[in-house]
Amino acid sequence: MKTFLYMLSRTLHLHGMLDSCLYFKNCLRHRKPNLRFQEQHPDFIVPPTQLAFDAYHTVSYEHYHNMGAAQAQYFMDTITPHLPQHSQINMLDWGCGPARIIRHMTSGWEGTAPENVHCYGADYNQKSISWCRENIQNVHFFKNELEPPLPFDDNFFDVVIARSVFTHLSASMHDAWLRELHRILKPGGLLLATLQGRNFLSKMTASEQKAFEEGALVVRDGVTEGKKGFSAFHPAKYVHTHFSPRFTIIQHVENPPCKGLVQDVWLLRA
Ligand SMILES: C[S@@+](CC[C@H](N)C(=O)[O-])C[C@H]1O[C@@H](n2cnc3c(N)ncnc32)[C@H](O)[C@@H]1O
Repeated sequence: MKTFLYMLSRTLHLHGMLDSCLYFKNCLRHRKPNLRFQEQHPDFIVPPTQLAFDAYHTVSYEHYHNMGAAQAQYFMDTITPHLPQHSQINMLDWGCGPARIIRHMTSGWEGTAPENVHCYGADYNQKSISWCRENIQNVHFFKNELEPPLPFDDNFFDVVIARSVFTHLSASMHDAWLRELHRILKPGGLLLATLQGRNFLSKMTASEQKAFEEGALVVRDGVTEGKKGFSAFHPAKYVHTHFSPRFTIIQHVENPPCKGLVQDVWLLRA
């Protein structure tokens, strides 16, 4: 039913209106819990609700705090065994939104990473980057466009995290960004990407499911590319054929043992 309503609103070009209604409903639902959260965590700066909803579809401060911390920890645990020890690690959260994850990956302050980790964030949403620059310490933030390039030298990063970013891009943008992420990663550097895999089959229409089962990238467009309403679903076969020429697949976790993370986690090496 939910999928049907979404598809209908897309066809009738009412997606923006539906999203605004869901936003206001979500604000009402979380008003009291959010006030309580702020009383309990007076020093934890939270992003404006509109930025939060735009990035991860809820305005809940508790979600922003708890899911961000849990996923940052899970990502660090996943990448650490594959990183060189004792050298400086440059890590980019590409499509960082309002820093839900990267703020927990810094050393010191709110993060738990070792001191040799230097954190960067990039996003194509100017408002998210402006908010991050004003409010989040120990991370360098950059705005990029929907299309590459990123403002970094070749071979600069040891790690790039792309948490639910390819999930909002078209097929041609996949190719362009895979090329760009490979350019900024050091040889042997890591790309950790989360993608919408089999766990999302129930959200797809019958024809989307058929295409998915045949191994095709399923793209639900009709709204602004890069926004959360623009959805891409990734069968494992597609990742193997399209990510593999540039990247070696180290790990594919279909049901990651991390609260709130229903997307597949792919760890790849440049
Ligand atoms: C679903 S949100 C995830 C945000 C963040 N990674 C998190 O998990 O909280 C997707 C993010 O990707 C950003 N984005 C989409 N296309 C992008 C692009 N081409 N370059 C950089 N960021 C992009 C959006 O602005 C949004 O912040």
